[in-house]
Amino acid sequence: MRNETYNAAVLSHTNPNLVRAILSIEVQQKKFREPLPNELLIKMEAAPFNPSDIAFLQDNYNVKKQMPCVPGFEGAGKIVEVGKELDSGFWLGKRVSCFSQQNKDGTWAEYFYAGAHEVLPVSDKLSAAQAATFFINPFTAWGLFEIALQRESSAIIINAAGSRVADFLLALARMHQLEVLAIVRKEQTAKTLIAQGVRHVLVESDPDFNSKLQSLAHELKATTAFDAVGGAQSGQLFNLMPSDSEVVLYGGLSGKAVDGLNPLSLIFDNKMFTGFNLNDWMAETDAVSFEVARQTLEELLTDNVVSTKIQQEVRLPEIAKGLRNYITAMSQGKVVIRF
Ligand SMILES: NC(=O)c1ccc[n+]([C@@H]2O[C@H](COP(=O)([O-])OP(=O)(O)OC[C@H]3O[C@@H](n4cnc5c(N)ncnc54)[C@H](OP(=O)(O)O)[C@@H]3O)[C@@H](O)[C@H]2O)c1
Repeated sequence: MRNETYNAAVLSHTNPNLVRAILSIEVQQKKFREPLPNELLIKMEAAPFNPSDIAFLQDNYNVKKQMPCVPGFEGAGKIVEVGKELDSGFWLGKRVSCFSQQNKDGTWAEYFYAGAHEVLPVSDKLSAAQAATFFINPFTAWGLFEIALQRESSAIIINAAGSRVADFLLALARMHQLEVLAIVRKEQTAKTLIAQGVRHVLVESDPDFNSKLQSLAHELKATTAFDAVGGAQSGQLFNLMPSDSEVVLYGGLSGKAVDGLNPLSLIFDNKMFTGFNLNDWMAETDAVSFEVARQTLEELLTDNVVSTKIQQEVRLPEIAKGLRNYITAMSQGKVVIRF
């Protein structure tokens, strides 16, 4: 017999001061309820911290939830209860990765109520941490990479290149033999990427950054850039890339407004500045293409071609420590709550 309650990390309110927001998270008991007719109850194995969670805690994200709430947009676990309208023979006991941006309790809890459209089957061969990080970043990298393929770019530019999205972009670029120009903000991250075989790495604080970016972008014919940073770096990328380039903004890590785009390049050089959002990509992608992406990404992980780097697993009561470790060394890998 299951208990009547389960443990969850509860945020009483968001706070622009991240340290205060983190310190206000408490482990509390939540009561189980009946799953809604189209819901699945998942017994969680693990759930990660992502930049979107950090932005959410600071009220700096597009998803808003009624407070108090359980944060967490992603995770993995096994289905233990099935809503009346769903096929329990199909769902019960299935291991799934989940992704939800709804205004409801999230994944930083021992149990998570998910809509059927918010889960993906995931192989038992993946560790809990790999399964818990399967949905958001690998599929984001896949969706972004499709843009480079459609544009027939011979090279891509990735900033915040020590990130997990970047790991998957790098793996896809290797598969498709596309050159990569990687941009990072720390020397140590540059060294790690070079040791992994990434040939073109620039550190954004290099005094010659602009001239190196311009000459490499032109030499490699890098006409697609994936920008997770925003702020002044968006303008640098846009202005210094060759004609006919597209900068795709998919993150706002700098916390600053996109800045400095040269209007003449926009008008006369056939350049584009666009945005990417995983939810929209999923909505626009047909079921067959999505399943191809799912299977390929799962194979890349089970074959150890790429994996999501994990720096630490923490228990629910250690959530504040885990979040602090994550935000101080994001390139070191994900911190994952292990239930
Ligand atoms: N649009 C979408 O649908 C979508 C979906 C998934 C992810 N994303 C975005 O993708 C990006 C990467 O996510 P992730 O989970 O892969 O990240 P992650 O693995 O947690 O790593 C974050 C990376 O960003 C770097 N970084 C942090 N702040 C930075 C700044 N101000 N300037 C330059 N670099 C900075 C970190 O470097 P340090 O080690 O130097 O801190 C680290 O390498 C995030 O912006 C996230 O929001 C967007």
